[in-house]
Amino acid sequence: MTHYEEIDMFNDMSLIEDPYPYYEHLRAQGPAVYLPQHNVVAVTGYREGLPLFSNPEIFSAANAVTGPFPPLPFTPEGDDITEQLAAHREELSHSGLIMTEDPPQHAKTKSLLMGMITPIRLKENETFMWELADQLIDEFIERGSFEAIMDYGQPYATLVIADLLGVPEEDHKNFRMLRSNLPGQVGGEKEAVRDPLEQIGLQFYGYIEERRQNPRDDVLGKMAQVKYRDGTTPSVIDVVKTATFMFGAGQHTTVLLLASALRILGEDPELQAQLRADRSLIPKFIEEVLRLQSPVKGDYRLVTKTTKIGDLEVKAGTTVMLLLAAMNRDPAVFEDPHSIRLDRTNAGEQVAFGRGVHACAGSPLARGEAKVSLERLFDRLADIRINEAAHGPAGQRRFEYEPTYTLRGLKELHLDFTRA
Ligand code: HEM
Repeated sequence: MTHYEEIDMFNDMSLIEDPYPYYEHLRAQGPAVYLPQHNVVAVTGYREGLPLFSNPEIFSAANAVTGPFPPLPFTPEGDDITEQLAAHREELSHSGLIMTEDPPQHAKTKSLLMGMITPIRLKENETFMWELADQLIDEFIERGSFEAIMDYGQPYATLVIADLLGVPEEDHKNFRMLRSNLPGQVGGEKEAVRDPLEQIGLQFYGYIEERRQNPRDDVLGKMAQVKYRDGTTPSVIDVVKTATFMFGAGQHTTVLLLASALRILGEDPELQAQLRADRSLIPKFIEEVLRLQSPVKGDYRLVTKTTKIGDLEVKAGTTVMLLLAAMNRDPAVFEDPHSIRLDRTNAGEQVAFGRGVHACAGSPLARGEAKVSLERLFDRLADIRINEAAHGPAGQRRFEYEPTYTLRGLKELHLDFTRA
């Protein structure tokens, strides 16, 4: 426990493999706890955290991507920093992205995004998801083993977004392995890079610019013509930024969800058999994986006006870390919170996708990707098992996790199977 008292959660590798005991240590001190090292309040309480998502007047999303790093480009003064934030907003890391905007600008960008992922597009995209799952499985089915992230999850998540946004099929191979940086590296360079998705952005710039000049009736052509709700036309850069952000937001998160799901199934043959026998349980299982292994461990907000979270007074200028992974294990809301329970009636209340105005725009996509993948993997691979050469025998497993304080997920997951 003494160790936990002194820990700097943003710089401590010991929390990467299993952060949950530390979150329980925080919870024992209250639903919201002040961590002095980086002027952060960590929220583990579900009921205390939830209202923060819906109060952008006090809890700005300006620092939503990387939290306290890099530090604010100004020294907060007084109990209301709204004006200071407005004056320096563009200097903040990841500014100008949908995720870091507040109303009313956020609503404007969101209307652009919703113009891109229309219900018709989502439907067409689902057909692609089924075909793609089979194509990727074909690549390793003869081997009897695969690495869940690079052989399946990574190309799957990337190409599903590429298809959603209308990237021509001949360019898919260029996109397949383009992987953005993971946010929130522990002890690493503190998020100095503004846009890690440069290559994807350049490609999109070409698509949109070309279609603005020579209109075409394809998905990218429609994206080039998309308008804000007020009827004005966005700049090419604004369209590109929004499209590119989808790759950043939807790639790793979905891969981490898939990997966590497959790891749990690889460790638990009984659970695997239960899901294989009753496929209608798959969506419940996915909700439980999202709850228990939330791919986004923490989401951030900047307090713009001195306020209270629970009983804790929080000064303007403080970063709030909404620990989604801990809120999702709050025993006041989720009974037996550390176990997968397919009979849980409130599994859907988990907050792995956030809530409020910034709630994940890709949640139907992520859920769909996980469901389709499990369906096709179950159909084609019997008996999915953890590869012991890579991860050790049961009881002595070795797994490496991505060293970030923001995301939760395996670096590699080697699995064996018998061909169905
Ligand atoms: C398991 C997979 C995923 C998880 C756990 C996840 C999680 C989240 C979370 C927690 C937020 C809220 C951030 C905040 O409140 O500050 C968010 C926002 C967002 N996500 Fe996801 N996400 C996933 C997949 C996706 C996918 C597949 C896409 C799109 C292709 C996507 C696109 C977005 C976008 C555009 C936002 C910003 C919404 C806004 O600010 O209005 N996400 N996601």
